[in-house]
Amino acid sequence: MVPNGTVPMPAVPLVNRTAKTPERTNNMATTQVKISAEDLSKMPAPHERIPEPTILIIFGASGDLTKRKLLPALFHLEQVNLLPQEFAIVGVARRPLGDEFAADMREGILEFGDVAADDPKLDTFIKKVHYYGMNFDDPNGYMGLKAELDRIANDAGIGGNRLFYLATAPDYFAEIIENLGAHGMATPEQGTVRAVIEKPFGHDLDSAKELNRRVNAVFDERQVFRIDHYLGKETVQNILVFRFGNGIFEPIWNRNYIDNVQITAAETLGVEGRGPFYEKAGALRDVVQNHVMELLSYVAMEPPVSFESESVRREKLKAWQAIPPIAIKNAVRGQYGPGKIDGAMVKGYREEDRVDPDSKTETFAALRLEIDNWRWAGVPFYLRAGKRMKRRATEISIQFKQPPLMLFNRSATGGPCSEIEPNVLTIRIQPDEGISLRFGAKVPTTQSISICPVTMDFDYASAFGKSTANGYERLLLDAMLGDQTLFAHRDGVETTWTLYTPILQAWAAKTPEVFPNYFAGTWGPDCAELMLERENRSWRKL
Ligand code: BG6
Repeated sequence: MVPNGTVPMPAVPLVNRTAKTPERTNNMATTQVKISAEDLSKMPAPHERIPEPTILIIFGASGDLTKRKLLPALFHLEQVNLLPQEFAIVGVARRPLGDEFAADMREGILEFGDVAADDPKLDTFIKKVHYYGMNFDDPNGYMGLKAELDRIANDAGIGGNRLFYLATAPDYFAEIIENLGAHGMATPEQGTVRAVIEKPFGHDLDSAKELNRRVNAVFDERQVFRIDHYLGKETVQNILVFRFGNGIFEPIWNRNYIDNVQITAAETLGVEGRGPFYEKAGALRDVVQNHVMELLSYVAMEPPVSFESESVRREKLKAWQAIPPIAIKNAVRGQYGPGKIDGAMVKGYREEDRVDPDSKTETFAALRLEIDNWRWAGVPFYLRAGKRMKRRATEISIQFKQPPLMLFNRSATGGPCSEIEPNVLTIRIQPDEGISLRFGAKVPTTQSISICPVTMDFDYASAFGKSTANGYERLLLDAMLGDQTLFAHRDGVETTWTLYTPILQAWAAKTPEVFPNYFAGTWGPDCAELMLERENRSWRKL
């Protein structure tokens, strides 16, 4: 243990399949059969089910998401034998593309999926990739698509299962769903039909309700999979395992022991050519209402009665419903000006491509809220999300209360580590995925007692090997299997919009005084710091 340093947890590079006792599991000297973590990750876990033969139809397939995330994720599933043999992908978009589409997807798999060009499964997989060009408002297009799907299903022996994936601009969601209904594709004679809908799911409460109404007029809620890719991230799923798969954390996971909770979603990226989208969205709609609120629900929810979709959703919903309206003084916003990221100058938001030079859109938002229930009453939750911040870091930090009595107070200590810090448990969602616990330790010395903060650390990569998964693997698989646990439900979406719509309205009604108000490459505007200073707290230094 070194002052201010890290005490690493033992790495688990190999898995001992013959170990008889827990103590011997990591003892490599006793290992007879060794399976590397990498090999292990390539095998379907014994409980993994393989979906029924399916056609996956991706609307908006010429967009970045398909090439960067969806196809690499699908190929990763193929590599670990989790896709059915009889499987096809049909990209749908307006552009008249032919075989170029499959070639482009192949490139995407290699580049973004970290796959070798000579992977033995790649060529066979790419043969399953098709393209169909149509306008989303053209009835003939839907009739043609139906015939094309039937033809592909016949050729590949797939039958009637269809998974529609809406990756278009959100303005098309309802229109596509209604057309699928009108052309007999939402309720097939045989098989299962499901629809995956990308975020953003509405832009405020009214639009979300309207979209839900139109979607549910065609699809039953059990057929609808509203995706939030954060729920597919290993580290996010691990929050529930950490809390409910271990005995020692839950007893202290409440207002008696926890002083405050901070959730940060900081990106160094700017808007990356998505100016027109971001101008209408802003940080609150783009990241807080969905990703950050999902993280909050996992931290705050009560234990579900089982890890089954309805039980988990019910507990998440109860946590969100217990949040009282957020006072406007507890919601602050920012917009980045030019600045330096990693030593290189970057332009300000208003100078980005296709962004209004006088834009009022926030690229940073910070909030303080409470959860009025028995577990959390009085514990502030501080949330912040921003683009062009100093460092990329998405993490949750649980700050514990100080001991009731300070035996080792500041005057009794000395030297560089004399501050007594509160215990902090940090769940690092990305990058450097892991969990750490900060606590005070006695500095070895014969002089008076000196306390120094040290860190106990669990690091995903050293324990389990580095993963190439992007989060969509789990979600695509679950959607094909019909498991809704990791998807947003209409009630949840409407509840989070109920919280944030008044803030968005108040912000729209009042022009921000000074925008831009933070430099790119910093931790955001002063108003975010002040919000915590008012309560004698500060954001965790990242
Ligand atoms: C998306 C947002 O939903 O999430 C983007 O639209 C954001 O603006 C992205 O950059 C962040 O995702 P990740 O997985 O990189 O944290």
